[in-house]
Amino acid sequence: MHLPALALAILTCTTNILAAPAATQPYSTWMATSFLSKPQRKIDRHYVANVLYEGIQKAATLHQNSSLLATASSAISSLVAENGTLLGWDPNYYSLDDIRVGNNILYFWDSEGRKATKYQKAVAALREQLNQYPRTPSGGFWHRNPSYKNQMWLDGIYMAETFYATYTSYFEPENTTAWEDIARQFDLIETHCRNKTSGLLAHGYDESKKAVWADPVTGASPHVWDRAVGWYFMALVEVLQVYPQKLAGYARLENYLTALAAALKKAQDASGGWWLIMDEPYPGMESNYIESSATAMFTYGYLKAIRTGLLEASYQETALRAYNLMVEKFVKRDANGTLSWEGTVEVGSLDGDGSYEYYIGVPLSENDGKGAGPFMFASTEVEALQK
Ligand SMILES: *[C@@H]1O[C@H](CO)[C@@H](O)[C@H](O)[C@H]1NC(C)=O
Ligand SMILES: *[C@@H]1O[C@H](CO)[C@@H](O)[C@H](O)[C@H]1NC(C)=O
Ligand SMILES: *[C@@H]1O[C@H](CO)[C@@H](O)[C@H](O)[C@H]1NC(C)=O
Ligand SMILES: *[C@@H]1O[C@H](CO)[C@@H](O)[C@H](O)[C@H]1NC(C)=O
Ligand SMILES: *[C@@H]1O[C@H](CO)[C@@H](O)[C@H](O)[C@H]1NC(C)=O
Repeated sequence: MHLPALALAILTCTTNILAAPAATQPYSTWMATSFLSKPQRKIDRHYVANVLYEGIQKAATLHQNSSLLATASSAISSLVAENGTLLGWDPNYYSLDDIRVGNNILYFWDSEGRKATKYQKAVAALREQLNQYPRTPSGGFWHRNPSYKNQMWLDGIYMAETFYATYTSYFEPENTTAWEDIARQFDLIETHCRNKTSGLLAHGYDESKKAVWADPVTGASPHVWDRAVGWYFMALVEVLQVYPQKLAGYARLENYLTALAAALKKAQDASGGWWLIMDEPYPGMESNYIESSATAMFTYGYLKAIRTGLLEASYQETALRAYNLMVEKFVKRDANGTLSWEGTVEVGSLDGDGSYEYYIGVPLSENDGKGAGPFMFASTEVEALQK
């Protein structure tokens, strides 16, 4: 692997930051084992824990740490009863956030030999729910029923479409209707949320335009919230891994990714990170700040897309600058030698008025899986380069 000179310098610099006692320990597994010693380690079927455990699983896999992988595997296994019931999940409650666990289950179903029938039943139930799932008049899945009817959020694209696509690639690879349905979800977001000038996307839109925040023409919410864009960027990268190249949707998704990658590069702060609220004129404002979860998601998205041939290698510098910032600023060393993760905003919702004041008023939370998980994703990509 040939790295550009600057990126190499950054990589070297990153390694130096690892400091004496820790130099032998990669950040991905270090963060993973740290989290397993914290109260946040508790697994449940919700997306925050699922993203955290995907980080642990990725770290364990890259570094071939079998005890760590076994921990992740049994955590996911504990969510599914022997009869295939996903414990605590109600098939009649529609929330895209609750679909995300399907990715964790599919990963272990596949990597453990595709023989666990309980996993196959659990993912089939999640997939079946999508067939009855409430949709906007143009066919977009509602973010949640009934709280967010007729609304699509960027977050939901990651929660549902990464599962929908991976499931389809395993069980129904010839189902063109499903593939087109997946691409349509992205198309709708693009039509309503993408700002053609900045290249960035609003957090979501309301097709009925009834929400207080909805733009009267597009239905879009007023601001570009960094984590929503982070989920969306990762969703494009993950779905393109499995989307059939022969179908027309592939080229559209590729174009969405390419355009977003360019826009994100432009929006990157000199420090290497990205602002919580990314639309003008907010970046740089005193009340705004560089937020860690989206910075991790963008870093991962770039590196995985480069590794898999979806984006040009020139973006590596963008990603490594961001990685360097995370290690310096958001990875905290605890006195007992574990790591903590900082700078992740607790939540961002379109429940209220979607205003700038709302977003910046949400507190930060420490050791948040929505940030630490993607940091582990990004770390495994950086460590794969170093290997
Ligand atoms: C190490 O310290 C951190 C931060 O105080 C704490 O969350 C964690 O539980 C501690 N781990 C152990 C093994 O004591
Ligand atoms: C593997 O993970 C375990 C935690 O499950 C940790 O205690 C151990 O240090 C890790 N081993 C290596 C070589 O990283
Ligand atoms: C499956 O097993 C779980 C846990 O043991 C139980 O709660 C549930 O009722 C069972 N479902 C069916 C359909 O048997
Ligand atoms: C193919 O996908 C569509 C759309 O999700 C679904 O309605 C249909 O049941 C699927 N067909 C098969 C054979 O699984
Ligand atoms: C789109 O982005 C441009 C450039 O940042 C900005 O001037 C414009 O207000 C944005 N449009 C909307 C609808 O947010």
